[in-house]
Amino acid sequence: MIHIDAEKPQDELVRDALLDRAFGPGRHAKTCQRLRDGREPAEGLSFGAYHAGVLVGTLRFWSLQAGGRDALMLGPLAVEETHRTFGIGATLIRVGLARAAELGHKGVLLVGDEPYYTRFGFSKSPVQGLVMPGPVDRARFLGLEFEPGALAEAQGAVIATGKFTVESTLGGCDRRLAA
Ligand SMILES: CC(C)(COP(=O)(O)OP(=O)(O)OC[C@H]1O[C@@H](n2cnc3c(N)ncnc32)[C@H](O)[C@@H]1OP(=O)(O)O)[C@@H](O)C(=O)NCCC(=O)NCCS
Repeated sequence: MIHIDAEKPQDELVRDALLDRAFGPGRHAKTCQRLRDGREPAEGLSFGAYHAGVLVGTLRFWSLQAGGRDALMLGPLAVEETHRTFGIGATLIRVGLARAAELGHKGVLLVGDEPYYTRFGFSKSPVQGLVMPGPVDRARFLGLEFEPGALAEAQGAVIATGKFTVESTLGGCDRRLAA
């Protein structure tokens, strides 16, 4: 029995290990990571899939501006290899998108495989005028609007707007001061 819930702070190490297995060591070099570095995920939009209390799937969303409009970035999404093709990834996305819409967000961007994400309504057209902060394969740069036109005419840079993490706020300061 799989249970989707808000991600728990104590799952951080398990989540990181799951992401390392799913994406490999190069995951931190991706352009999407530039929009997550030093930022907290969007409020109320970090989800875990739990099997007998163990995290087997993860999905988070991030706050950004896309051509001057508030939006979210979806990802990373990963499901433990032993638990794939049972619909956990789709459930995480559907729960996450529904919650994002309830919270009043207007649109979502992602970089991912179009054949997987079209089933949720993502397509290339809403993001045509947007520029990510690094190289991306435009065929994998996709968007979804909760309100028609929320992103479609947006032009310009995609920039992170999420709350800074405590670590990034401290910057070069002695981290022992935070203890
Ligand atoms: C992508 C991923 C999250 C899907 O999780 P999941 O729980 O297996 O997803 P679902 O059960 O909802 O969907 C499975 C279906 O999606 C298909 N699918 C999975 N990855 C796909 C991809 N990259 N492109 C197209 N289809 C894909 C599967 O073949 C399966 O098809 P079926 O329903 O016809 O059998 C999982 O495969 C994973 O963690 N992959 C490694 C990390 C990754 O690629 N994340 C997405 C980054 S964009």
